[in-house]
Amino acid sequence: MNISTKAIHLGQTPDQTTGAITPPIYLTSTYKQTAPNKHFGYDYTRAGNPNFTNLEQTLASLENGKYATVFSSGLGAVTALISTLKNKDLVIGGNDMYGGTFRLFGQVFKKFGLSLITADTQNIKKLKNLLKKRPQMLIIESPTNPLLKISNIGAIAELTRRHGVLFVVDNTFATPYLQNPLDLGADVVVHSTTKYLNGHSDIIGGAVITNSKLLKSRMDFARKAIGLNPSPFDVWLISRGVKTLPIRMDKHCQNAFLVAKFLEKHPSVKKIIYPGLSSHPQYEIVKSQMRGLGGGMITVEFNLNIRQTKKLISSFQIFSLAESLGGVESLVDHPASMTHGSIPKKEREKIGIKDGLVRLSVGIEDPTDLINDLREQLLKV
Ligand SMILES: Cc1ncc(COP(=O)(O)O)c(C=O)c1O
Repeated sequence: MNISTKAIHLGQTPDQTTGAITPPIYLTSTYKQTAPNKHFGYDYTRAGNPNFTNLEQTLASLENGKYATVFSSGLGAVTALISTLKNKDLVIGGNDMYGGTFRLFGQVFKKFGLSLITADTQNIKKLKNLLKKRPQMLIIESPTNPLLKISNIGAIAELTRRHGVLFVVDNTFATPYLQNPLDLGADVVVHSTTKYLNGHSDIIGGAVITNSKLLKSRMDFARKAIGLNPSPFDVWLISRGVKTLPIRMDKHCQNAFLVAKFLEKHPSVKKIIYPGLSSHPQYEIVKSQMRGLGGGMITVEFNLNIRQTKKLISSFQIFSLAESLGGVESLVDHPASMTHGSIPKKEREKIGIKDGLVRLSVGIEDPTDLINDLREQLLKV
């Protein structure tokens, strides 16, 4: 099956007892047992629920993986992965990841003896040297949040395989529609399903996808033992949202390309980063590993001071100033003070998240309206 068919049919078969085309929401915390520990596959929703199973089948199939486990959030999914590590273990992480992922390592797991070293994983030579430090796990985003850096997943996978390092790719920005890290050699895919997979900005969720049976059992255990389960209702909404992932992604990519083209020529724009523009430094890798499309995210720096930048992003009529991304509606974010505010200013600036940087999540509205919104507000600052 192709991805558009899988998104609609896998894990979404009609209900066996009633024939309902849309599987029902199993809003139950517990399940009747016929004798102690004899049941129909579920005993308590923290451990499992039919809605979780349905979405797990869908997500595993979209990522061309064997197994998936769904969680309460993207950070819940990363927490489950970290929970497989132990005191004194080392993790290497991309130096430009979502701020909350840094916070999780630095402010939560550091005190349990885990260390995180960050690196620009676009630089394969440097990474090769770092792997000599014998980390247990390498976690990267590609494209990264917010600088949209692209790492060569296939080349990194070759290295991590040789060094016996678990290679985790956060595929939230690209989505399985544009990129399948497991096919490129990664061991694990992690998602914030809050974003494109759900696509409607109405839930928080996460998922881990892998081909390893052992890791799948560890993920299920972590969900049950730590209490990282989502709500069946939220999961049902993600199953509903994911059906339209392919058509939404096509439109996100088309709109973002048009907006990027407009901004590229605008005199108020100092720098634009969009993986679908040939000006992107890793454009060749984008073409080879992201099905040739650039995604729905744009990062831009204006020729404006910080006061003007803040005024601009608060004045748009269609782009709402808000955290998050990947929904049908366009959003604008100021990483330095919002999504990445938990990273100390010095570190943030070292990696390029400057005060003037603005991140656009381009929605699926009419592109002319989006461009007019940007044009009109830029005229007023
Ligand atoms: C790339 C990426 N990974 C993980 C997360 C965390 O996901 P959640 O907010 O669902 O916990 C985010 C959130 O913005 C993200 O952008």
